[in-house]
Amino acid sequence: MFDIKVFDGMKTEEKYETMLSMLKSIVEDEEDIITNIANAAALINAIIGRVNWCGFYFIKNGELVLGPFQGMPACTRIKIGSGVCGSAVKDKKVMRIKDVHEFKGHIACDAASNSELVIPIIKNEKVYGVLDIDSEEVGRFTELEELYAEKCIELLSKYIDWEKLSK
Ligand code: SME
Repeated sequence: MFDIKVFDGMKTEEKYETMLSMLKSIVEDEEDIITNIANAAALINAIIGRVNWCGFYFIKNGELVLGPFQGMPACTRIKIGSGVCGSAVKDKKVMRIKDVHEFKGHIACDAASNSELVIPIIKNEKVYGVLDIDSEEVGRFTELEELYAEKCIELLSKYIDWEKLSK
């Protein structure tokens, strides 16, 4: 059972540390990859909070294809180098965008999104996809959200064979 109330009264950093330990207990007990990624999207969405979209894209046949997520229906395919997600893959770097309307080439999936955090999923220097988090708030994501979103991906990488999701 998941009870969001356990986070009541916690400071942000404590909440994010608890999110990491919950993520670990979710993935270490389950071997199905889609199950784990779907639960990861739900957990990150709920705990980071003030987020309107949170999910994964994975590289298949040279483009990003939508994976498990929380939020409104989204663009199904994104070319490498396009938008915030495609740029994170091309440059192999985290993209933390204060105001997406100032990012040239931003792809608007949910019109409500104003800021975005994209973490590339990289293992042994190969990029497999991204974790994408959007918020309606301009400047929602700080270094702290970036740090913990990266920690979530590091943790997932220990348990998930990303190779099985790409073609
Ligand atoms: N805004 C992203 C597209 C994905 S959606 O936000 C879910 C981008 O520019 O790559």
